[in-house]
Amino acid sequence: MIEIRNLETGYDKKQVLFDISMNVSEGEIVSIIGPNGAGKSTILKAICGIIPIWKGDILFSDKTIKKNTIAENIKSGLTFAPQGNRVFDELTVKDNLELGGYLLDKKKLKKRIEQTFETFPILKKRTKQIAGKLSGGEQQMLALARALIPEPKLLLLDEPSLGLAPNLLGDVYQKLVEINKEFGISMLIVEQKVNDVLKISDRTYSIKLGKIAFEGKPEKLIGNKEKLKELFL
Ligand SMILES: Nc1ncnc2c1ncn2[C@@H]1O[C@H](COP(=O)(O)OP(=O)(O)OP(=O)(O)O)[C@@H](O)[C@H]1O
Ligand SMILES: [Mg+2]
Repeated sequence: MIEIRNLETGYDKKQVLFDISMNVSEGEIVSIIGPNGAGKSTILKAICGIIPIWKGDILFSDKTIKKNTIAENIKSGLTFAPQGNRVFDELTVKDNLELGGYLLDKKKLKKRIEQTFETFPILKKRTKQIAGKLSGGEQQMLALARALIPEPKLLLLDEPSLGLAPNLLGDVYQKLVEINKEFGISMLIVEQKVNDVLKISDRTYSIKLGKIAFEGKPEKLIGNKEKLKELFL
C-alpha cells in the first residue's frame, strides 16, 4: 500500500529524519512510537506532502508520490489527521465535515457525509452544533470523521489520544479498529500512549533521534518494560 524508502528530510537546513524505511500493507494498522522530538510527526508530514523530501522515495500503490501536493494525495486516497489541530472550533459539525470533502463534488460530498454519520451516530445528532462546544472525545471523533470523508485507502493519524481522558481514549481506539475492519482502511498511527496503541497495532516502528530504533510485532514490546525504557530514553 505505502512504502517509504530511505527517507531523509528536515526543516530549513536542520536534518530531522535519517534513512527511514517503512511500509504499511493493505488493511494493516501500523504504529509509530518514540519520545518527544524524535521525528514522528515529521514522517507523517513528509508522507502527505506538507514538507518536501530531501532524499529517498515514497511509493503509494506502487507509484511515487514524492513530489505530490496534499490535494493530489487526498485524491489518490491518502488523508491526514494532524496532531493537536482537531476541528474548526467556530464552525458547525456539518461545516467541519464539508471542509474535509472540499475536493469532492456536491453530490458525492452529501453522500459521504450521510455515510460518515452512520459510522458516527453521535455526530449526526449534533449536525448544527458548533464544534468548539463538543466534548474532547466528540471533537476527536469529528476530526476522525473529517479525515474519512474523502474515502481514504490509508489514514495517517497523529496522536489521536492527545488531550483525551483515559476513559475516552478507549472509545477512539475502538472506533479506529471498527473503521479498519469494516472499510478495510489501512492506518499509520503516531502515538505517545504506547500501551494503548500497541494493543491495536499489527506492527510498530519506534523512532529515536530521527532513526528507526525498533520494528516488529507489538507483542515484543507489550509488558517489556526494559525494552520500552531503552526505546524512550
Ligand atoms: N516546523 C518546524 N520547524 C523547525 N523545526 C521543527 C518544526 N517541526 C518540528 N521541528 C523539529 O523537528 C524535530 C522532530 O519534530 P517532530 O514534530 O517530528 O517530533 P515528534 O516525534 O512528533 O515529537 P512529539 O512527540 O513531541 O510530537 C524536533 O527537533 C522539532 O523541534
Ligand atoms: Mg509529534
